[in-house]
Amino acid sequence: MLQFTIITLFRGMFSSPLSHSILKKAQENGWIAVRLVDLRDYATGRHRVTDDYPYGGGHGMVMKPEPLIRAIEDLRARLDRPRVILLSPHGKVLTQPEAHKLAQEKELVLICGRYEGVDDRVKSFVDDEFSIGDYTLSGGELAAMVLIDAVARLVPGVLGNIQSLAEESFADGLLEYPQYTRPEEYRGMRVPEVLLSGDHERVKSWRRDMSLQMTRERRPDLLRRADLSTEERRRFRAGANLYLALVHHPVYDKNGQIVTTAVTNMDIHDIARSARTYGVRRFYVLTPVKPLQKLALKIIHHWEEGYGSQYNETRKEALSLVGVGDTLDDAILEVERDCGVKPRLVATTARPGQDRTSFAALKDMLKEDLHPYLLLLGTGWGLAETVLAQCDYILEPIEGDSDYNHLSVRSATAIILDRLLGKE
Ligand SMILES: C[S@@+](CC[C@H](N)C(=O)[O-])C[C@H]1O[C@@H](n2cnc3c(N)ncnc32)[C@H](O)[C@@H]1O
Repeated sequence: MLQFTIITLFRGMFSSPLSHSILKKAQENGWIAVRLVDLRDYATGRHRVTDDYPYGGGHGMVMKPEPLIRAIEDLRARLDRPRVILLSPHGKVLTQPEAHKLAQEKELVLICGRYEGVDDRVKSFVDDEFSIGDYTLSGGELAAMVLIDAVARLVPGVLGNIQSLAEESFADGLLEYPQYTRPEEYRGMRVPEVLLSGDHERVKSWRRDMSLQMTRERRPDLLRRADLSTEERRRFRAGANLYLALVHHPVYDKNGQIVTTAVTNMDIHDIARSARTYGVRRFYVLTPVKPLQKLALKIIHHWEEGYGSQYNETRKEALSLVGVGDTLDDAILEVERDCGVKPRLVATTARPGQDRTSFAALKDMLKEDLHPYLLLLGTGWGLAETVLAQCDYILEPIEGDSDYNHLSVRSATAIILDRLLGKE
């Protein structure tokens, strides 16, 4: 049995929420009990005043320390080791794991503030401060009711079906999967086929997938802290849907002619290392020149399997991301093979222009969906117009505060990756 004791100026506010449904039954069955204490009983004087003007001036009134501290001390003396909680916007936000911990207690004392809040000295007499979210309520009563509801349903017995608890939102740190009931079709919207299949394994895996996807889209903060398998972590980490392609043809030379540039050792190494650092899925080096492809493969092989792999393990890790191909179509095909859909193409260029996509917009797109994106990096004097015309997006250029804009493709890649995938 969990006993809640509430210190409040407005006892009447609690009657309705406590006299319906689960909270009503929980009290009737003796799993929880709620005792309401009127703060005015601890106030002195003819008017039993519980608030006063704030020192230093300002709007509103502040709850006086004496009645509150008297009430806390009295309850500590009378109850069996109660945990005393102040509902306050300054408190830690009430989460499901915190609710679970509170459900283990025997005695919880909840203090409801009013007006501009409580005199700060009261805080040294409580065990915890809890907020129910980042907004300001007019008083702690509704916050206390929210806490009671969230905690009471975790007290053994209150909810008959323990399984439903295990699958709810936040139970495993994720949002719950979408739920459907009859009819099978409503206004053209059908219940997902898998839920009608009767195949429990498929249903289970669909639900897990939906739960992960919804959490990723709506609460990426939760996903970062959730308990995921290694495979799930890999799928959902930042950069997992970003691919890079270093294009050696068709690119411009300084006279605006279409040329094929040479593959360089430095580009492969540095871009692979940046790719690995920022969690990029794969990096393709594209050149139609066979001897240059061979050279690229030789470099990769040296570090992946040859002498270099023993000499420098971290370099091996970076170079294992590199693939070699003829043309952009090869890279598109590879991505499609890897994740089942064609990637969206994003060109990079040092040339400003209209309809460029901002770094912030692309960053959001990468976060929002799991669709793969292939970012094209130009060599020489930049990607040919024919490549740009093929792309879904052209990323805005990186610019310094000067009229010089000749970053190496390696430096540009590092800056771009940091803007798209770097920790904030
Ligand atoms: C109007 S609020 C006081 C707000 C205070 N002046 C401030 O800006 O932080 C009055 C009381 O409502 C309760 N309260 C308001 N917002 C809350 C929240 N998000 N979570 C928990 N309690 C809240 C607290 O008990 C608080 O003392």
